[in-house]
Amino acid sequence: MSNKNPIGLFDSGVGGTSIWKEVHALLPNESTIYLADSKNAPYGQKSQDEIIALSIKNTELLLNNNCKIIIVACNTATTNAIKVLRATYDIPFIGIEPAIKPAALHTKTQKIGILATQGTLNSALFHQTVALYSDVKVVEQIGYELVQLIESGAMHSEKMTQLLKDYLLPMVVEGIDYLVLGCTHYPYLIPQIKKIIPNHIRIIDSGEAVAKQTKHILEVNNLFNTSNQVFQSFYINNPKEVMQELVGTAFKVDYMVF
Ligand code: DGL
Repeated sequence: MSNKNPIGLFDSGVGGTSIWKEVHALLPNESTIYLADSKNAPYGQKSQDEIIALSIKNTELLLNNNCKIIIVACNTATTNAIKVLRATYDIPFIGIEPAIKPAALHTKTQKIGILATQGTLNSALFHQTVALYSDVKVVEQIGYELVQLIESGAMHSEKMTQLLKDYLLPMVVEGIDYLVLGCTHYPYLIPQIKKIIPNHIRIIDSGEAVAKQTKHILEVNNLFNTSNQVFQSFYINNPKEVMQELVGTAFKVDYMVF
């Protein structure tokens, strides 16, 4: 395994680019390959077996491209498939899970909200995490349709505003003081969410923590890229426009069948 090899990332679509941005900001000298399996989005309404099969497909493709570690930039794939991936492949995997812990430790109202996919909220891993904080009320909400709207370029639509109000205002009424975003697509909705919920409610996601963990894993495995050969590759198996807009013109997004 060469240190020059890229870090692989995959998600059910464009959302994991929110994680990629944090990783690239912290580790600008690392090469990355990002796979957006947008054709199969949303993962959140699929069975665990389907999510595992898709995660294996993405992992194999990243391994065929010599990735040295893999970031599962999707809460749904992490909570449903990372155990299998770790048991099957001999490289480090970094997963992303809803940041329940910091919210549960800091809440003053003892009530926190979580917005995530059905697949994440139904997973055993999520239930185990919530069970650790039995003194905190966790108000769960499935973000039906949010991923599809983002994938189809309708992030700023009236439909999005209406759905966010429907999902978030009941949590405000419940008295939450933390809102956990448990899906890597949702950080892109933060400006809209801030217009709906009161200022005192803190919004947290896991992007920065994943970037720090990635740095740590590279360090302990002695895998930092010390060469000056660096590239950033993005592949999507659906039309690429939405993703191109999210990553910006400095990076090239390519369509690929996978
Ligand atoms: N970005 C994925 C996540 O973090 C979205 C899953 C989906 O496609 O439903 O859960």
